[in-house]
Amino acid sequence: MTRLFVNVDHVATIREARKTQEPDPLKAALMAEKVGADGITVHLREDRRHIQDKDVRIIHNNIGTKLNLEMAAVDEMVAISLELKPYQVSLVPEKRQEITTEGGLDVCSQIPELIDIRKRIKNEGILFSLFVDPDIDQLEACREIKADSIEINTGNYSELVAPKDVETELLRIQKASKYASDMGLRVFAGHGLNYDNVKAIVTIPEVEELNIGHFLVAQSVYVGMENAVKRMIKIIEMAQS
Ligand code: PXP
Repeated sequence: MTRLFVNVDHVATIREARKTQEPDPLKAALMAEKVGADGITVHLREDRRHIQDKDVRIIHNNIGTKLNLEMAAVDEMVAISLELKPYQVSLVPEKRQEITTEGGLDVCSQIPELIDIRKRIKNEGILFSLFVDPDIDQLEACREIKADSIEINTGNYSELVAPKDVETELLRIQKASKYASDMGLRVFAGHGLNYDNVKAIVTIPEVEELNIGHFLVAQSVYVGMENAVKRMIKIIEMAQS
């Protein structure tokens, strides 16, 4: 079954709204794990708007599964990841003004810099992933960098409404997944996924791992983190059976 990594950033967003102790992203991560999440994802943003440095450490030290650390391709974050040694580092583009990650990384325009980061990360035995749009040129660049995996940005897919547009974008994601996998890259997906739009993504045979955050945290307001994650896992299972 496709692995589910639960992104707990927005648990920290609620906490940071009041700068208090609750809700605690570690507690949410442990609840997600308890019902079957395969790993936990956090994005340590340069502006520290939600997850703080101490959250990353505490979550890394206390979860029983794996930590996927999302971060910008900048020296400060590389240094933090090298010290912490999470299971996986996922590089994402970051803009100060954006509400959330707005698109995939432009890998093509920074190949030498990303090769350098990949070497430093891989030297510590950390898996190295790149978040990209389903674009063949970007995938070719990911191969050149020798990333372990790519995470296909499903943000555009998740925002489309007209069935024809959704179908076209899905086809693009399917083709990109096969193309990347044929080149030896492992394929993950994420951004904007929910109980409905996840179904088509998990039927793509190459997609091994998902990162889902905002929707699960939103659902957990109504039904609790355990129930929200349990339902997502059930839906993934059913879509694949
Ligand atoms: N993957 C990446 C690279 C992301 O930056 C995010 C958002 O932090 C996600 C997946 C999860 O997206 P969402 O919160 O919309 O589920």
